Amino acid sequence: MAEFDHKVALVTGGSSGIGRAAALAFAQKGAKVVVASRRVKESEETVALIQAAGSEAIFVQTDITQAAEVENLIAKTVATYDRLDYAFNNAGIEGAVGPSIEQTEEAWDHIIDTNLKGVWLSMKYQIPQMLKQGGGAIVNNASIGGLIGSVNLSIYTASKHGVIGLTKSLALEHAKNNIRINVVCPGGIDTEMPERAFGEEGKLQLAALHPIGRLGKPEEISSGVVWLCSDAASFITGHPLVIDGGFTV
Ligand SMILES: NC(=O)c1ccc[n+]([C@@H]2O[C@H](COP(=O)([O-])OP(=O)(O)OC[C@H]3O[C@@H](n4cnc5c(N)ncnc54)[C@H](OP(=O)(O)O)[C@@H]3O)[C@@H](O)[C@H]2O)c1
Repeated sequence: MAEFDHKVALVTGGSSGIGRAAALAFAQKGAKVVVASRRVKESEETVALIQAAGSEAIFVQTDITQAAEVENLIAKTVATYDRLDYAFNNAGIEGAVGPSIEQTEEAWDHIIDTNLKGVWLSMKYQIPQMLKQGGGAIVNNASIGGLIGSVNLSIYTASKHGVIGLTKSLALEHAKNNIRINVVCPGGIDTEMPERAFGEEGKLQLAALHPIGRLGKPEEISSGVVWLCSDAASFITGHPLVIDGGFTV
């Protein structure tokens, strides 16, 4: 029997990058997986990869900035699989790269709505289901940008600091409910995101800032996420797990 047999895992932003790797990692442990994101083709590819590996998954198209869509996501999860054991609130955007004084109010709203409000809305609707079942585990995705300042990514950095504060607060609120809530802080990971933000040349420069000498792989984050959800991490809550090749050391 696999470790997560009969368990149900939800991954926001499961259409690509770290989210896709996490969806596959939960499935490899035996969980049924719900993929939530906006792009249909890419999300269905994630579902197909899971099914090809012999596991079960569904896609629920969701914009995590919209409360009604997040509420619908949890309702569809429970209607399909009866429960929700693990959630990886991973969906996020980098937004425009540049000095803070050049950023627009629209950019602020878009980044904060996605990276911070989206994580809050996700937990707001996930936790009542976990309370009903008597427990669960949540992992949010922040960044090393949640721990240290950064030049030209100030709104992203503020949003990710917020994700860590939100995680710690909800971890305390639900510590006695058998719901553990943790957060991962990845360094630069080789996904569409650094490519979009910095281009090919910038990606090489970012890689060189990591003492290990390269960007991380999505699977090097998803392994930490799955571990934080597992019973091996049963005494860990409110913890920011830094997975950054030594960047913040
Ligand atoms: N790559 C890095 O270097 C790095 C480092 C630290 C932290 N992170 C964090 O890791 C997370 C995943 O990023 P990634 O690197 O895997 O990049 P990615 O491939 O661009 O993934 C971002 C995911 O977020 C989803 N998403 C964005 N806005 C959404 C919305 N409003 N509603 C639902 N889903 C939304 C996207 O799906 P759709 O477009 O299909 O909606 C996509 O699946 C982000 O939170 C990011 O901040 C990344």
